[in-house]
Amino acid sequence: MSTDSRPPTDPTTILDARFRAAIHAVSALDADPQIRLSTNPNFGDYQANAAMSLAKETKGNPRDLAGALAAKVDLAGIAETPVIAGPGFLNIRLERSFISAMLQAMDNASLGVEPTKETHAAVVDLCGVNVAKQMHVGHLRATIIGDTIARVFERLGRKVWRENHLGDWGLPIAMTLAALRRSRVDLDRLSLTDLNDAYRRAQLEGRSDDAGLAAARATGVGAHRLAELQAQAESAGEAIQDAKATLLRLQGGDPEVVAAWQKIIDCTMREVYASTSTLNAKVGAEHNRGESFFRDRLAPVVEAFQSAGLAKEDQGAIVVPFADRERPLLIRKSDGGFLYATTDLAALRFRTHDLDGSRVIYVVDARQRDHFKDVFDAAAMIGWDRTRDGNKSEITHLGFGTVLGKDKRPLKTRSGENFTLKDLLDEAMERGVAEVTRRAQDPNAPTHGMRHAELEWVGRAVGIAAIKYADLSNDLTKDYVFDLDRMVAFEGDTGPYLQYAHARIANILAKAMDSAAQIASAAHAVHEPAERALALHLLRYPQMVLDVARTLETHRIGAYLRTLAECFNAFYQSCPVLKSEDASVRQSRLRLCALARRVLQDGLSLYGIDAPERM
Ligand code: ARG
Repeated sequence: MSTDSRPPTDPTTILDARFRAAIHAVSALDADPQIRLSTNPNFGDYQANAAMSLAKETKGNPRDLAGALAAKVDLAGIAETPVIAGPGFLNIRLERSFISAMLQAMDNASLGVEPTKETHAAVVDLCGVNVAKQMHVGHLRATIIGDTIARVFERLGRKVWRENHLGDWGLPIAMTLAALRRSRVDLDRLSLTDLNDAYRRAQLEGRSDDAGLAAARATGVGAHRLAELQAQAESAGEAIQDAKATLLRLQGGDPEVVAAWQKIIDCTMREVYASTSTLNAKVGAEHNRGESFFRDRLAPVVEAFQSAGLAKEDQGAIVVPFADRERPLLIRKSDGGFLYATTDLAALRFRTHDLDGSRVIYVVDARQRDHFKDVFDAAAMIGWDRTRDGNKSEITHLGFGTVLGKDKRPLKTRSGENFTLKDLLDEAMERGVAEVTRRAQDPNAPTHGMRHAELEWVGRAVGIAAIKYADLSNDLTKDYVFDLDRMVAFEGDTGPYLQYAHARIANILAKAMDSAAQIASAAHAVHEPAERALALHLLRYPQMVLDVARTLETHRIGAYLRTLAECFNAFYQSCPVLKSEDASVRQSRLRLCALARRVLQDGLSLYGIDAPERM
């Protein structure tokens, strides 16, 4: 569990403490006061719901208990005397001066988000691309969700390790290397297309159609077809032999093979980094710790499980059996080879122990659920689920759903291929640029007359926001339909809508022409109901960030920002800012605008979404 305390500027924190004291005074119990947001602002801003459960525990009357709490609780300078409702709810209306004071306290560089006291690191397994393969839509999710989780922990001041567990080792790579050598491709001029072709060829060559051959023999197809199938089977055998020999040379550190291997990694990663940078996701070479990193730790993993008596031999292979299920975890094949799971065991131990991660989060396709369950359970059995100082780490597989096409099937191009990430991003940015350019034609648009290069920058930011928001603002475990038309719209539940809301506030502030210092020196006054609603929502920002760190539910950020945009719109509709007659009211409203703008920008930055000043 996180040791983070509640945000000091959130009214809930203070109400919780005051009611806790009152409960203790009234019942001698230390109980959760159950402070909740009020469901109806007409009755108050918050409610304390503890009386009902307390009454059950003390065998008292809930309304009487509520009355006693209302009389006892010290809310001087914080709220009016609570009002009892229904079976024993207490409705709480905050004092204006208290809301202003809290806003004042939150309106600093950190926006009320306090640095964590946790000194252990958080480790985020993200991206996870495979060498020699194009990055596809699935890696989009692993990259941007992982990046957002990392940003949230970083926002809380935590040490974060972004670990790109690159698939850069093993037989598939050796197959590609061997195929490249056979086709005499110049590795210094290697393009990703060459690499993909080689990968595909290697996969085809390696697939011997033994079953087809047997069936052909049995059904007695023509001699020609039989010969064809036989040749394929034989060359498949050769391709596999070639690949196995190449793998041995790679594993043995043969300089020529290692150099070729490094070149195909570089070629793959150039494209990956181009995409992560377009996506505004912080994944670069410094986050690279692929499967190959763990190659010397695989034999020791197996030995450790064996000497702990946790592994056993099964037909020449080594497996880790579990008490509660049939399926064991295979950690060494009968031919002596290691597996994906062996590498993940080594990596997990590295993350908890060497990186000192007390929180380790695997942002990987939900379809790998069983794999991670087995790896985590095996690691717990051997005690690798602990930080260097022996604290138990919280280890999570954040399994995300599949990106679907409009036909509700996994997203494919028209010719049936996986969409490459690059195609998708290019199209989204094109759409963004087209939309922004179209809008700029309106003479009243703030972007009217903007330089072409700048419009293009805004348009690209819109396209990327569209994709990222659509991905991050839903329940991550669910599949979702990739619908660019809907995602890129300025209206509705979209990233561009939030960017637009931000740009509108920026526009108001620009029109006001007051300096930032002038605005910051105004008092936060909260009079109108819409101002109050906006202020109360702003005060919830730090808790929202903590909640995302705790639950890993990135959609909470989107939901928070959407409500913020709505509160702001309601405020701006009912409370004149620039046209306000009273200078001090104008100033305090501008200050509220400025704070709302910064919170929107900060929240969008957790998604890695840019917030242009003009749109
Ligand atoms: N390369 C893997 C794949 O494409 C994902 C790696 C996920 N991370 C891990 N530690 N297993 O399926």
